[in-house]
Amino acid sequence: MKVLITDGIAKEGAQLLKDAGFEVVEQKIPQEELAGVIGEYDAIIVRSATRVPKEVIDAGNLKAIARGGVGLDNIDVAYAKEKGIPVLNTPGASSISVAELAIAHLIAGGRFLHRSNVEMREGKWPKKDYSKGKEATGKTVGLFGIGAIGREFAIRAKGLQMNVIAHDPFVKETDLDVELVSKDELLKRADVISMHIPFIKENGPTLAEEEFGKMKDGVVIINCARGGVIKETALLDALNSGKVSYAGIDVWESEPCGEDQRPLIEHPNCCVTPHIGASTVEAQLRVSTEIAQKVADALNA
Ligand SMILES: NC(=O)c1ccc[n+]([C@@H]2O[C@H](COP(=O)([O-])OP(=O)(O)OC[C@H]3O[C@@H](n4cnc5c(N)ncnc54)[C@H](O)[C@@H]3O)[C@@H](O)[C@H]2O)c1
Repeated sequence: MKVLITDGIAKEGAQLLKDAGFEVVEQKIPQEELAGVIGEYDAIIVRSATRVPKEVIDAGNLKAIARGGVGLDNIDVAYAKEKGIPVLNTPGASSISVAELAIAHLIAGGRFLHRSNVEMREGKWPKKDYSKGKEATGKTVGLFGIGAIGREFAIRAKGLQMNVIAHDPFVKETDLDVELVSKDELLKRADVISMHIPFIKENGPTLAEEEFGKMKDGVVIINCARGGVIKETALLDALNSGKVSYAGIDVWESEPCGEDQRPLIEHPNCCVTPHIGASTVEAQLRVSTEIAQKVADALNA
């Protein structure tokens, strides 16, 4: 049986499939050519770049569709299920990496690392400009979502001696030392808000003008979840007014970012990264071997 890996995964995953006796083709196929070649394969492994819509599913005879990573926004999951094709992903494989990046944004923004790194490279000595840093210790962090990543974030925030509260309508109890609260209570009490929820387009952003209005003055906002869960124009207004003292943003309403997003990217109080939450050696290895094993199991079933 033949497996197509389009967007690239760590080499260990491809090797696992080869060792299990599968023929593996690792090749980036342009989106418009995918339907034309998919008939040759029993399974496809994508990351976030390649889309597997209805047309591609109909053009092939796939026994498994696999996404190395969490979000399945690029796969027509409902249609695949209708046709009885399992859709596989690797929830949890990158949770620690994403949680660590969110913590990094929290600390970096609080101590102006994003700006002082640039200015020292320009020969400046901006010591006085950065005399009003903020400690994380003792602050209340409010998590939207206490799933796999929210959980890892909470454990690390506790290590920083933060008080952790969370809002998650689908979680009624937790074994962590985390207080579950309503959305409004989180907005009212949190010094730091970190997003760990999926983006559901039909529901729109979870944080927009109304929610920013309910937050503490000087609140910190971290988004390493999905672009769209925070309305970027509302965040920019809140940064400009000082309502938000700083933001750490890894994920964007449109990626790669466009010119219209530059005011937010270049805002002095915004610490930015280009969607690198899962981009660690450890996470990529876990993603690659877990997805390969799931594909092997599905094809052998
Ligand atoms: N930055 C990155 O590179 C990166 C990498 C991996 C995952 N992610 C994203 O991180 C997010 C969280 O991933 P996860 O693995 O923890 O998912 P998960 O499914 O384990 O947890 C998500 C939690 O959010 C809760 N939730 C859903 N809607 C909510 C809402 N409106 N308010 C509050 N809670 C809500 C769910 O009940 C669930 O407990 C996802 O959007 C995922 O795509 C980002």
